Amino acid sequence: MKIVKHIANLGYGSRKQVQMMFREGRITDADGEVLYADDPVDHGNIRVDGEPLDPAPGLAILLHKPVGYTCSTKDPGRIVHDLFPSRFRARSPALSTVGRLDRDTSGLLLLTDDGALLHRIISPRSNLPKVYEATLAQDLRGDEADLFASGTLMLESEQTPLAPAGLETIDPRHARLTLTEGRYHQVRRMFAAVGNHVEALHRSRIGGLTLDDLPAGQWRILGEVDLRVLFGPL
Ligand code: URA
Repeated sequence: MKIVKHIANLGYGSRKQVQMMFREGRITDADGEVLYADDPVDHGNIRVDGEPLDPAPGLAILLHKPVGYTCSTKDPGRIVHDLFPSRFRARSPALSTVGRLDRDTSGLLLLTDDGALLHRIISPRSNLPKVYEATLAQDLRGDEADLFASGTLMLESEQTPLAPAGLETIDPRHARLTLTEGRYHQVRRMFAAVGNHVEALHRSRIGGLTLDDLPAGQWRILGEVDLRVLFGPL
């Protein structure tokens, strides 16, 4: 791909604007030599205003989503894309969330511009566990773990029962729930189905990936090792 198009696709501007950046000498190689639009040069050797280019397509990101942000790009309020540099919004291929977390849910959210990777993560065949920490309005009754594990729980207005899910009681008002599917508001609806209410919800794990010490609102780019951990044995 031509370098102007490549840089434009990373969200730095239209092709016309990127051509202007070349003319202004803002695009250089790693040694500070001014580049011309038809120079053959690798992604890693390009600098814009002295800064390395944003990551090339094939990007996968792990975000610690804070409460109060939605995953939709159409929401008029705060959206998770606001947590990244604004030019990320203009990337082609676009950066999409892998599934969604509700506005009021915090925790581990993946984003990628790689459609094949996205489908592999959400595919039932990958069977990736997602772990949620729920704070409940009322004490657990004691029968929830058996019911959730049974594979028979039917949520309102759904046609098929939920796949078996694992429930670990941390204390009467705190539970850790492991799901392998991702239905709409699934955790909140599961607890509603047993007469409870989720007061706070946090996703702590997808596959083998956890947030570790990443603070809320911060993100990091995933490498090959991370992707192996994501899909690898727990
Ligand atoms: N289940 C929910 O209810 N909300 C989420 O954000 C994720 C799973």
